Amino acid sequence: MAKRGTEVRTVGISATGMYVPDRILTNAHLEKMVDTTDQWIQTRTGIRERHVASPGTPASDLAAPALQSALRTRGLLPEELDHVIVTTVTPDMFFPSTACVLQDKVGARNAWGYDLSAACSGFIFGLIAGSQAVASGSVRNAAVVGVDVLTTLVDWTNRNQCVLFGDGCGVVILEPRDDGDGIIDAVLHVDGSGGQYLNMLGGGSLNPPTHATVDQGLHYLYQDGKAVFKVASTSMADVTLEVVERNGFRIQDISLIIPHQANLRIIEAVAKRLGIPREQVLINIDRYGNTTSATIPMGLHEATRSGRVKKGDLVVLTSFGGGYTWGAVLLRWEL
Ligand code: COA
Repeated sequence: MAKRGTEVRTVGISATGMYVPDRILTNAHLEKMVDTTDQWIQTRTGIRERHVASPGTPASDLAAPALQSALRTRGLLPEELDHVIVTTVTPDMFFPSTACVLQDKVGARNAWGYDLSAACSGFIFGLIAGSQAVASGSVRNAAVVGVDVLTTLVDWTNRNQCVLFGDGCGVVILEPRDDGDGIIDAVLHVDGSGGQYLNMLGGGSLNPPTHATVDQGLHYLYQDGKAVFKVASTSMADVTLEVVERNGFRIQDISLIIPHQANLRIIEAVAKRLGIPREQVLINIDRYGNTTSATIPMGLHEATRSGRVKKGDLVVLTSFGGGYTWGAVLLRWEL
């Protein structure tokens, strides 16, 4: 760790990267696995297909190529990376952290780091943690890696959940800036009383893995879809407006909102509550499903590559997830 600097600096995203497994599971495949239809899935969720890792693929195998591609884009060698934060609820294992595994896999031998758990809001929580480390001067740069292999927590016989998720990874590199662009502000929240509606109860110290916990399915994700749907839509819209207005902007000033991709209907409800057209909101859930921590950095990467966001644009990232955890980040795009 470098000696702590004295100045708090502005921090921005200097490169992005992403990786998804090659294997694509379409709704037609799912029709053969559970009692569902392409029509139900598309109408109720907006998902057409998702990328799914082969059995036995750890999160670090998705994270390594995504991080390597972001480093290449920025022109940084792995050993020039100072810090790595991996946001995930599907780490390779409880410990060592996936950050340690990833550091070794990519040869970032001078980086220190850790895993951060905030479910679908993991990436924006990690973005703020990483940007504060860079702003303080304690590190020169940081990689924030949103990665999940959520299909490992899915009961593939349960049609209520197996249609919703996919696997993937998105990465950003954070560095200080002199021009005041980059991350402008963030509003982050947790409400632990929402934990009962979205969780995975098995495997930790509360319910250590036993035959009984497996028999009860406690190693699978659980969600009360309707309860989550309602609070996710209102929370993402309200926190977006809060971060925009408290910085003196109007929602119309935002070029692109990149929301967590859990359900197309949630995204449409957010746009409606904000009074903005669908075109102002990034949607890629049709191709990836819900990739948990990875949805926002993957969206950011695709929006940059396709020219959907340009230098100088105001962008809001917003998410809602298990915990409950939610928030919004306002930034001026600099790539
Ligand atoms: N195929 C066909 N039918 C299905 C189905 C599927 N894949 N999944 C559920 N159904 C059925 C249900 O069994 C139910 O049938 P019933 O009325 O005979 O009981 C019916 O469809 C309606 O189910 P319901 O759960 O009420 O659907 P919904 O419109 O609420 O959609 C979710 C379910 C999960 C898609 C939706 O609630 C959701 O997206 N919630 C938020 C998820 C979320 O944000 N999670 C957070 C992760 S960050």
